[in-house]
Amino acid sequence: MKGYIPEDRIEEVRNRINIVDLVSEYVTLKKAGRNYLGSCPFHKEKTPSFTVNAEKQIYHCFGCGEGGNVFSFLMKIDNMTFPEAVRHLAGKLGIALPARDFTPEEKSRHDSRESLVRVNRVAAAFYAKMLQTAAGSGGRAYLERRGLRPAVVDAFRLGYAPEGWRALRDHLQRERIALKHAEQAGLLVPRGDGDAYDRFRGRLMFPIEDIHGNVIAFGGRIIGEGEPKYLNSPESALYVKGRHLYGLSRAKNAIRKDETLIIVEGYFDLLALWNAGVANAAATLGTALTREQVDLIRRYTASVAVTFDTDAGGKSALERSMSLFLERGMKARAVVLPDGKDPDEFVSRHGKDAFLDEIRRARPLVDYYIDEVIGTGRNIDERRDALKAALPFIAGIAEPAERGQFMRRVAERLGVDEGLLRQEVTRIVAPQRSPSALPSRPATGIVDPVELSLIRMMIENPERAREIERGNVLACFTSDALKSLGESVVEHSRRARPVRLAEFIDRVQDKTIREKLLESSLSAGSPDEALRNRIFGDTVRRIRQRWYREKQRDLRVRLLRAQEAGDQDLCKRLLDEKERLRHEQKEREG
Ligand code: UTP
Ligand code: MN
Repeated sequence: MKGYIPEDRIEEVRNRINIVDLVSEYVTLKKAGRNYLGSCPFHKEKTPSFTVNAEKQIYHCFGCGEGGNVFSFLMKIDNMTFPEAVRHLAGKLGIALPARDFTPEEKSRHDSRESLVRVNRVAAAFYAKMLQTAAGSGGRAYLERRGLRPAVVDAFRLGYAPEGWRALRDHLQRERIALKHAEQAGLLVPRGDGDAYDRFRGRLMFPIEDIHGNVIAFGGRIIGEGEPKYLNSPESALYVKGRHLYGLSRAKNAIRKDETLIIVEGYFDLLALWNAGVANAAATLGTALTREQVDLIRRYTASVAVTFDTDAGGKSALERSMSLFLERGMKARAVVLPDGKDPDEFVSRHGKDAFLDEIRRARPLVDYYIDEVIGTGRNIDERRDALKAALPFIAGIAEPAERGQFMRRVAERLGVDEGLLRQEVTRIVAPQRSPSALPSRPATGIVDPVELSLIRMMIENPERAREIERGNVLACFTSDALKSLGESVVEHSRRARPVRLAEFIDRVQDKTIREKLLESSLSAGSPDEALRNRIFGDTVRRIRQRWYREKQRDLRVRLLRAQEAGDQDLCKRLLDEKERLRHEQKEREG
């Protein structure tokens, strides 16, 4: 298999790297009892609650719930994929891994991406240099007029594409870069006779970067007035519209500290914010926010503040992005700047602090929607119409709890009956959502504490895990997610060595279970072995009892039904079954 890393190597990496050393590269840790403590790099906090345990090789933040092992740490903090994290650590440790081999198809895709990145990088450098020449004086003057500091111009590699048809073309030729690649990147336009001419001419150039800082496309603004105001790179193997955000590659570091990402529309909005010292921002570049963009953002933060217009276009953009954020469980606030100003105008005129005040004051998107969109009708009829129009939107909120809360607030706000509203929405929701459409492992928000603590005790002591296996206790679990977690603990315990949470925490998909498990295994248990064993026994008993109770209840119901139906045969079978279960339970409990 290509690029496949064998399981035993992954294990070797996991066992040899010390999580305390790794985390210390990013966070200052202090020893605190059995754990190490530091300020969480994933959210802003005053008192350190980021906990690392060397013995268990796990970390967990009691503040934001983030947690896992060495791999998940790297994946989160450096935005790596799992194989990237493994390779990175293997490199540190000098562990040899099988080389990545690509299929010819993969290789050519990889190579062509590389050449597109390269030609874009060369072009960006060329445009940046041109901005500093005599030809670029008009561009420089324009940027100055817009108030951008040279440091920002440099940082964002702003440039100037000269007039004429072949400035870039000739430069690339001098640099011995195949013009074919420049055509694929959309920098040159083929002429048909084998030659090509510059797409961008006489424009200010804004390189668009991917999350790693590679230039993947350009926007070119006309200097002064004219049409089109911006000319953009066409889509390519590198650049697909709506998959990236301008400035995010630079904002991602700021977001960790500031938590909230401010989403703006245009190049100049983003640059003006940086210019004023606001770094936690990214721009959508004139398109409505897409699901891909929201997923990208969510890799860095769950909190956003979206600036938008109050016009009709702004309203529908708001509805769309609100449902994306709700779907993904993100915290979103709506920023509407006074007098319909855009962020560029606002921050240039009033400064950073006034802008940040607006961000702080911003209402949750949902509140904004209820207040300004649904609730603005002058009379009840108008509002009812607005509400009707909003029904499909409400039905689109994925989380039932979110949806419920939203309906309650809408009903209250508009003075309509909540039950009626619920009925209307249900009518729309029901056909849309079949059970199979539900995500396979949603975060339930509720984790059975008894089953979870049993799992923790199994991890603590593999002997207990084997006991659970022998007694088939997992069959009595009510939670499927916990049951399969228990199964993987049992599997680990079969190998004769301690079971470590770090080894399978990254396979636990349910976020709540993950958090609870990390939390409980980091908090100190009783040092008394005998007491711990007694608690273990009690827990097993409780789980069993509950299961038998459920079974008996179920049989009782079925028995009643069978009696009503006069089905003597079934009655007898059910009674036998009840009796058998009672015996079994007695025997088990000894
Ligand atoms: P704006 O018209 O608000 O541009 O469009 P802006 O960035 O604020 O620029 P200034 O302040 O007028 O100089 C917002 C975004 O929409 C995209 C660009 O990404 C722009 O930043 N856009 C706009 C285009 O792609 N093409 C256009 O012709 C206009
Ligand atoms: Mn503008």
